[in-house]
Amino acid sequence: MSVAPHMRHGAGLQRLLCIADKTSCGFLEPFPPTCRRSVISHPKPVPLDCITAKSAFRDCVSDTFQTSDVMHLFPTYVWRGDVPDGARQELSQTLLQELAALGAPLASLRPGENWQSDQDLHLRAGFRPLTSWIQKAARQLLDHLHVQPDIMITGCWANVNAPGTGHRLHSHRNNFISGVYYLQTQAGADTINFFDPKVQAGAIRPPANEPTAENTEVAQVRIVNGALILFPAWLLHAVDANRSTKPRISISFNLMFPSFAETMARPGWTPGVGGR
Ligand SMILES: [Fe+2]
Repeated sequence: MSVAPHMRHGAGLQRLLCIADKTSCGFLEPFPPTCRRSVISHPKPVPLDCITAKSAFRDCVSDTFQTSDVMHLFPTYVWRGDVPDGARQELSQTLLQELAALGAPLASLRPGENWQSDQDLHLRAGFRPLTSWIQKAARQLLDHLHVQPDIMITGCWANVNAPGTGHRLHSHRNNFISGVYYLQTQAGADTINFFDPKVQAGAIRPPANEPTAENTEVAQVRIVNGALILFPAWLLHAVDANRSTKPRISISFNLMFPSFAETMARPGWTPGVGGR
């Protein structure tokens, strides 16, 4: 483990090690404040699972004010669920067979090559086991968001990334939720990076002595085979180049509300007469 020079002493380091040990996420390093948008190839963004629940605020002000708190307004969600091991093995076998039948080069790509399927996998019977898990995940997330209307898959496609390839910074327009299911990952090809959507927050990034969800500008989520993640379709994300020796295989998808224009886009306010 290497540590940034200014963090090699004192309480800051102790707290870093504590977080890393607690979550088994390994190395933590503050993200350089000048590398926004160039971080796709940065080797060590802050692992998200290490920082989401971290808040040191109460520690430092509890003796000053009778009461104090930080209101976390406008948070950005990244939902993650792992398909149970037993179901995952059967699901993965089914999906790999279906992809092979579509001609996916699951093992024949050369380093530096990638492949994507058509975007209609959700309409194919062989992928129903996956779409079922996606719908369950989406319902769980929508319940968390207190959103009642159901949502539908509007696009679903497979990605095969040979060593040396990743995905550039992008978002998925004209949908509400996007997500990924991970079929084949391994060390060196097991992360996805999400970027702070508050673009103006990048105007000033003071040095921080500890990475937290509030001071980082890119968060790295570590994934495993069978992991399914959901995030806002507008959230910028990127995938580092595959540094393993095997292909990374995933299935991406978008979700949107059916009949959005007919049922949800109407004005939500009540007409009335203005007052003082
Ligand atoms: Fe994406």
